[in-house]
Amino acid sequence: MERIEVASERGAYRVLVGEQILPELPHLLEEARAGRGWPVVTDATVGPLWGATAAARLGSDPPLELPAGEPAKRWPQVERICRWLLRRGAGRGAFLVGVGGGVVTDMTGFAAAIFLRGISWAAVPTTLLAMVDASVGGKTGINLDEGKNLIGAFWPPSLVVADVDTLSTLPLRELRAGLAEAIKTAWIGDRSLLELIPDAVRGYSKGRAERWIALVAGSVRVKARVVREDEREAGARQALNLGHTVAHALEAATGYERFLHGEAVAWGLRAAVRLARSRGVLSAGAGRRLLDAVACLEPLPPVHDLDAGTVLAHLAVDKKRDAGGIAWVLPTDEGVVLRQRIEPAEILEVLGDLQRHG
Ligand SMILES: NC(=O)c1ccc[n+]([C@@H]2O[C@H](COP(=O)([O-])OP(=O)(O)OC[C@H]3O[C@@H](n4cnc5c(N)ncnc54)[C@H](O)[C@@H]3O)[C@@H](O)[C@H]2O)c1
Ligand SMILES: [Zn+2]
Repeated sequence: MERIEVASERGAYRVLVGEQILPELPHLLEEARAGRGWPVVTDATVGPLWGATAAARLGSDPPLELPAGEPAKRWPQVERICRWLLRRGAGRGAFLVGVGGGVVTDMTGFAAAIFLRGISWAAVPTTLLAMVDASVGGKTGINLDEGKNLIGAFWPPSLVVADVDTLSTLPLRELRAGLAEAIKTAWIGDRSLLELIPDAVRGYSKGRAERWIALVAGSVRVKARVVREDEREAGARQALNLGHTVAHALEAATGYERFLHGEAVAWGLRAAVRLARSRGVLSAGAGRRLLDAVACLEPLPPVHDLDAGTVLAHLAVDKKRDAGGIAWVLPTDEGVVLRQRIEPAEILEVLGDLQRHG
């Protein structure tokens, strides 16, 4: 089992990454001196697979099952969690456990942030994306009609338990989408992780659990390092937005229906490589290395039929913009450069290029 310390304003917490560590949850929570009761929140898909067993091991009531998927990541489900806790007599000492993907961990964390003005919680991520990204860094929240993650809080968990064995039930498409985030993270802080990608796209298998632990733990280490420098995203943390400006625009331009988030990030990484090349901040060799890793994720949903103008319009409303326009993160030979200003004409050219050549 790998143990990674993550520093945070509210105190350090641990991310544990291992194989078949879910059965040890009670012991791991006790070790982290984690409150009382351990009510478990999960979703309707993960509940029968992992959530119910986790709750049983913890000696807790059956878990609260939220509807699965992004559309559920809304205020009514957070209110539901809070009222469920109240019905169970939960007080300030209650300790919430979220078992599921990023939707469950974001909502569980947000409910923990506001229930009785804040209780502690643990994340048990069961998607690759949640393991390498959503459960590290302390961001929690929900979506509004106006956009994603517009309401939320910085409320880090007290413990993260990532059991790679849970990836055995994750659909391959979801797993590959998570790999796009792992590629992004590897590029920012640990290129050696890229070597694990060609094998990883074949799917999870118990025989290769060690490689999955290495990939997850390596990605968590990079994210933990970036977040330590800049928990509230004033500067360095923006590096994690590599590939995300175009990704968010592609997702929005297709009504969040065509791409899984990670698939849009894969396209976003390709766009970022092209922009970095034309800006002269990335060598051909390094660009090829990043593109080769992304190519492992094919087949990706297509972009050729999208209207570039519509995608561009969605770029302009991305909330990560600041006063002077969109601040782009571009890959370099060493890592990334932040706050690059890019003109709409350059973006249109790159979008056109992506649509023609992939
Ligand atoms: N807080 C952060 O810093 C942060 C960072 C990145 C992403 N996020 C958020 O994470 C969310 C996306 O997370 P996600 O990709 O995990 O989506 P998700 O939670 O919707 O999970 C994807 C699907 O897989 C199912 N699933 C989960 N684990 C499974 C398993 N082990 N076996 C079978 N099915 C399983 C889920 O029920 C769901 O249908 C977004 O809402 C995004 O905003 C947050
Ligand atoms: Zn992302």
